[in-house]
Amino acid sequence: MNNGEKAPLPARTTEAVRILFVDDEQDVLDGLRCMLRSRRREWEMHFCLSGQEALARLAQAPCDVVVTDMRMPGMDGAQLLEEIIRQYPTTIRFVLSGYCDKETIFRSLGPTHQFLTKPCDPEMLIRAIEHAMNLRGMFANENLQRVISKVKSLPGIPTLYNQMVAALNSSDPSVEQVSRLIEQDMAMSVQVLHLVNSAFFGLRNRVNSILQAVSLLGLETLRSLVLMTGLFSSFEKANIAGFSFDGLIRHAMRVGQYARAIFEKEGMEPVEMDNAFTAGLLHDVGKLILASNLPDEYRQVAELVNRGNYAVIDAERKVLGVTHAEAGAYLLGLWGIPDSILAAVAYHHQPEESFLQTFNTLTVVHVANAFDHGALVPGKASEKVPIHTDYLIRIGKERGLPDWRRRCRQLKG
Ligand SMILES: [Fe+2]
Ligand SMILES: [Fe+2]
Repeated sequence: MNNGEKAPLPARTTEAVRILFVDDEQDVLDGLRCMLRSRRREWEMHFCLSGQEALARLAQAPCDVVVTDMRMPGMDGAQLLEEIIRQYPTTIRFVLSGYCDKETIFRSLGPTHQFLTKPCDPEMLIRAIEHAMNLRGMFANENLQRVISKVKSLPGIPTLYNQMVAALNSSDPSVEQVSRLIEQDMAMSVQVLHLVNSAFFGLRNRVNSILQAVSLLGLETLRSLVLMTGLFSSFEKANIAGFSFDGLIRHAMRVGQYARAIFEKEGMEPVEMDNAFTAGLLHDVGKLILASNLPDEYRQVAELVNRGNYAVIDAERKVLGVTHAEAGAYLLGLWGIPDSILAAVAYHHQPEESFLQTFNTLTVVHVANAFDHGALVPGKASEKVPIHTDYLIRIGKERGLPDWRRRCRQLKG
């Protein structure tokens, strides 16, 4: 897989995008206005000097995207975004801020989809906004919009995950430093240790400390586990007959492991294997979003599936008009998760619909998911979650299947 791989996200072609910039310094707003002149035909830009002014402007006409400074007198950026979540939950929320103390940054991460720092390269800002709007383009159809508008709020990225990304990107990330970060969050530590000690990792001895877990599994794996754990705990777990949140987490773990193992068999780089693991862990995150925000509709989905009439994505389309694959990719995209992972989430049930017709993260997540739905045993593939062999033939990888199957069966034990 090449690193420049881009997810095939459709371009947005509808009316002008409304964007609200909020900063208490007129100079900064003037600078942004000047920097973004090239976009003035496609973007309807509004500029406000305070949180209060921004809320008044939003009351006249809601915006697609809000880009706010953090440190402002009166209402600061975090307070403004909290209010925006409450009143306009589907607005895309960016922070563009200069120096902030750690506490302010962490307070803002919950309600923020992306955190950009000043001074910001205009191209980077334009790319971040366009990327978010392209993702929203996936939601251009009425059904998708309707479902998303019912989602109480699209959660922000788990704070600890961002802290870990920052630590891992630092010039010399240390196991001790990352372990300390996780340890500060008791609930997260307990859940991560629970996962690490589960049968999936096949560790012979019981792991009792985060430091030990990081040393055994590696920083990247721990980072993915933190992302998934944070996600799973940020959604309310509705009681839905025939649908198990715990079952979903166990399935996600197996798919992550299988996806990584297939990449290992194919001699991919460790960084690609970590990517595959993360994509596998996250591939069904859309089910979490839909089941916890729309429990009544998701009950109907579960019923259709359990009666044996429908595959999950067909039932979701029938009841909601949107699949968990689309909803999941949308949320992860807002968080700036890399495109190769987004594509794997968006197309794991229909890899042939992706523009990426090469062997990549999507391929292994598609196969790993089918493996966990019965296809680990040859001839036993679930009719509802089959391996798309035509697609594998097209990308020249169908011969790998028996080996991949063998390796994943060993893992299952
Ligand atoms: Fe799925
Ligand atoms: Fe799945």
